[in-house]
Amino acid sequence: MELLRMKNITKSFNHIQVLRGINFSVNEGEIVALLGENGAGKSTLMKILAGVHQPTSGQIILEGQEVEIQNPKHSQSLNISIIHQEFNLLKDLSVAENIFLGREWTKTKGLIDWKTMKKETAKLLGKVGLEFISPDQLISECSIAQRQLIEIAKALSFEAKILIMDEPSATLNNADTDKLLRLMESLKEQGMGIIFITHRLEEVTRVADRVVVLRDGEYIGSEYIENLTKEDMVSMMVGRDLSNLFPEKSKPQTEEVLEVNDLLVKGKLHHVSFRMKKGEVLGVAGLMGSGKTELSKALFGLYANKQGSVKMLGKEIVSPKGAIDAGIALVTDDRKDEGLILDLSVFENLLLPFYRRVSQGGVIKRKVTSSIADNWIKKLKIKTPGSDAEVGQLSGGNQQKVVLGKWLQMDPKLIILNEPTRGIDIGAKQEIYRIVHDLTEQGISVLLISSEMPELLGMANRILVMNEGEVAGELTGEEATQERIFKYASGGVTNA
Ligand SMILES: Nc1ncnc2c1ncn2[C@@H]1O[C@H](COP(=O)(O)OP(=O)(O)OP(=O)(O)O)[C@@H](O)[C@H]1O
Ligand SMILES: [Mg+2]
Repeated sequence: MELLRMKNITKSFNHIQVLRGINFSVNEGEIVALLGENGAGKSTLMKILAGVHQPTSGQIILEGQEVEIQNPKHSQSLNISIIHQEFNLLKDLSVAENIFLGREWTKTKGLIDWKTMKKETAKLLGKVGLEFISPDQLISECSIAQRQLIEIAKALSFEAKILIMDEPSATLNNADTDKLLRLMESLKEQGMGIIFITHRLEEVTRVADRVVVLRDGEYIGSEYIENLTKEDMVSMMVGRDLSNLFPEKSKPQTEEVLEVNDLLVKGKLHHVSFRMKKGEVLGVAGLMGSGKTELSKALFGLYANKQGSVKMLGKEIVSPKGAIDAGIALVTDDRKDEGLILDLSVFENLLLPFYRRVSQGGVIKRKVTSSIADNWIKKLKIKTPGSDAEVGQLSGGNQQKVVLGKWLQMDPKLIILNEPTRGIDIGAKQEIYRIVHDLTEQGISVLLISSEMPELLGMANRILVMNEGEVAGELTGEEATQERIFKYASGGVTNA
C-alpha cells in the first residue's frame, strides 16, 4: 500500500528555488533511498514532510488523503518521524528526558512518572543496541555515535508509519552501521515505510528497495535497486562519469617536515613515533577509540600534559598557537562544535583566521577580503547563494568545504584532515581529493585521518594503523591492503 506520495513539489527560500517539481513516494514495508549530491535538496524535501518547511507549491498525499503539514507536531501526529541530519539533542538533559521531551509520562497528579519513562527509555535503547547506557546518563557524556543512535531511539518512540533518516550512518563505525541497517530491515518487516538518505552506496545496495535521485533541486528519477549498478547511481547523481575518483599520487619530497618522537598522552597515546616528508600524504587508519583523533589533537598542541616530542620544521609544538605559527592546520571531524560558527556568513567563517592575523591595528578593507572569500568559494566550488549567506543554511558537504577553505587560506605547511569527507557526496569527495592532490604538489604535507579504507588506499603514500593509542603498523605501497589495515587495527598482528 502506498503510504505517501509527493507530487510536483517546489520550494524557494528568498526567491532562490531549491526544489523544482519533485515527485516522491514510499510504500508500506519499503525502504527508499533518497540520493543526490550535497545541496541537491534531499534534506529540504524531507523537512517539508517533517513540517519544518512549507512547500511553495505541490501536493502531499498521505494514505490517499491530501494534507497540508503545518508544523513538526502536526507531522508527528500524522505518524511521520524524522531523524534530522544535524543533532537536536539537548546536551544537559538525560537520555530519557531527551527522548520524551515535551511529552513526559505523568502520574494522576500531573507528576512526572520517572519510573515508566526510564523503563520505556531502556526498552528503546535496547532496540538500537545501547542497552549499556543508562536512561539517566547526560547526553553530554555520550559519544557522537551514541548520540546518533539515541536520535534513532527517539524517532522510534513515536511509533511512526513513515520514518525519515537523514544520513543516520554518517557518524557511525562499521559495526554500528551494520546494527543500524539490520534495525532498518526489521522495521521494514513490521510494515514501516523508511526514507533513507546516505552518501554510502554500499548501504543503499544492501537495504534499499528503490532509489530516488535528485540533482540540483531537480527530480532525476526513481528506479528499483535490482536494475541499478553503483555506477548507474553515481552517474544519475552527478550527471557525469566518475571513474577516476582518486587523482594520481604525487611523490613526497626528501625534506622532512614533521618529527614525532615517543609521544605519550596519558590514557590516550602511547609511544607514538613517526616522521613526515614534505608533500607527503600520510594516512592514519584505526577503529573508533584507537586514538586517531587524539593524535591529531596532540600534534596540534592541544594536550598540555603530553610527553615526548612533536617537532614541526625543527620547532617543538607545545600549544595550538605554536602549532599555527609553525604552519600546522587542523580540520576537525566535528564541524558543528569546533569548525564553524553556523550563524555567521560564509564570508565571516572563511576569514575568521585571516582576521586574527591581519586585523591587529588595522582596518580591514571589505573589498579585499570579499574578493578573497569569493576566490575560495570558486576554488573549492562551494555551493552558496553568496558569500554573505549563513553557513548554517548550506548543505552539509558545502559546510565542510568552508572549514577547509578557512584553514587553507592560512597557507599551512602541514594540514591535518580528520574525516574530511564524512557526510560528503561522491562528487564533492572527488573535488576534495583533487584539492589534497594539488596541496601535495605545492609541497604541503597532509595527515589524512579516515575511517574509509578506499580513501586511505587511494590517497595516502603511506598508512599508519592505530590500535589502543599505539601505532600498530605501518604500510606502504603494495603492502597496503584493506585486510592488512584491518588486521593491525583490530590488534590481530603484532610483529608481521
Ligand atoms: N533555510 C534555508 N534557507 C536558505 N537556503 C536553504 C535553506 N535550507 C537549505 N537551503 C539551500 O537549499 C539547497 C538544498 O539544501 P539541502 O540541505 O536540502 O541539501 P542536501 O541534499 O540535504 O545536501 P547534503 O547532502 O549536503 O546534506 C542548498 O543550496 C541550501 O543552501
Ligand atoms: Mg542534507
